[in-house]
Amino acid sequence: MTLNSGYEMPVLGLGTYSLHGDTVKNSVRTALESGVRLIDTASAYGNETEIGEAIREAIDDGIVEREDLFVITKIYPGSEMANPEEAIRGCLDRLNIGYVDMMLLHHPDRNDVKAYKAMEKFVASGQIRSLGLSNWYIEEIDDFIAQVDIMPALVQNEIHIYYQEQDVVPYMHDLGIVMQAWYPFGGRGHTGEILSDPTILEIAEAHQRTAAQVILRWHLQRGVVAIPGSSDPDHIRENISVFDFSLSDEEMERIATLDRGTKFDWY
Ligand SMILES: NC(=O)c1ccc[n+]([C@@H]2O[C@H](COP(=O)([O-])OP(=O)(O)OC[C@H]3O[C@@H](n4cnc5c(N)ncnc54)[C@H](OP(=O)(O)O)[C@@H]3O)[C@@H](O)[C@H]2O)c1
Repeated sequence: MTLNSGYEMPVLGLGTYSLHGDTVKNSVRTALESGVRLIDTASAYGNETEIGEAIREAIDDGIVEREDLFVITKIYPGSEMANPEEAIRGCLDRLNIGYVDMMLLHHPDRNDVKAYKAMEKFVASGQIRSLGLSNWYIEEIDDFIAQVDIMPALVQNEIHIYYQEQDVVPYMHDLGIVMQAWYPFGGRGHTGEILSDPTILEIAEAHQRTAAQVILRWHLQRGVVAIPGSSDPDHIRENISVFDFSLSDEEMERIATLDRGTKFDWY
């Protein structure tokens, strides 16, 4: 999809929260070999160095070109947003892949506007291409936008079949902001419930697909970019193999009724 910054972003990616060392390197490598071109990380995940290494190795091995990749990272509230230039440079140095495709503010913070303005300077110098926000909702977005120059291109929030953000998604879309789903499967420790939801299993059976694939199709078809996390090569390949089937309008409506308005995390 084309972002309001003019850059293109893949509609499906790999999440890397809680993956470290060789585990995250293997995940990124498998993802890139399988056709995934969007990788999500964050300063707070403590894995940018390994992710940068895996990307540079894949480029050196001819698996992918830098221009075809879209790497997202984030800076964190507290000391990072109080000293944003240093935090941004830290991300760029740890990743060491030339530029970052998108940088997000990880959460609202007392210094969020200051931190965003610092990111705007790095856009001007070409080290960051697009900007966005994470864990931002309707009540915070308008006030924030009024204080910055570059319109956020993306908002990354908790979104899954039990917490669909049926108000936030159209609100952001109307502003020209892309929505991205973290915890598309509910997050580690909660996937059992979502991936064994009876309605999802019924739809999966009808398409001869897995529950994970049906859920990712649902995200895609409502215009939400999902970034499922995985350290399992089979899961990574399964998650990117969702472009050869589609859900009917009736199936989309059935999944919409599963919304409980309940989050798995507090933010
Ligand atoms: N902005 C924020 O505040 C924020 C917060 C949380 C997360 N995030 C981002 O969002 C990404 C996604 O969230 P998440 O990774 O925490 O949770 P998630 O994607 O909802 O779920 C990850 C879990 O699903 C399992 N899984 C993945 N594919 C599967 C498949 N095809 N079949 C069965 N199980 C499967 C994984 O296990 P295996 O490893 O065994 O595959 C892992 O246990 C994160 O990695 C991170 O990049 C952002």
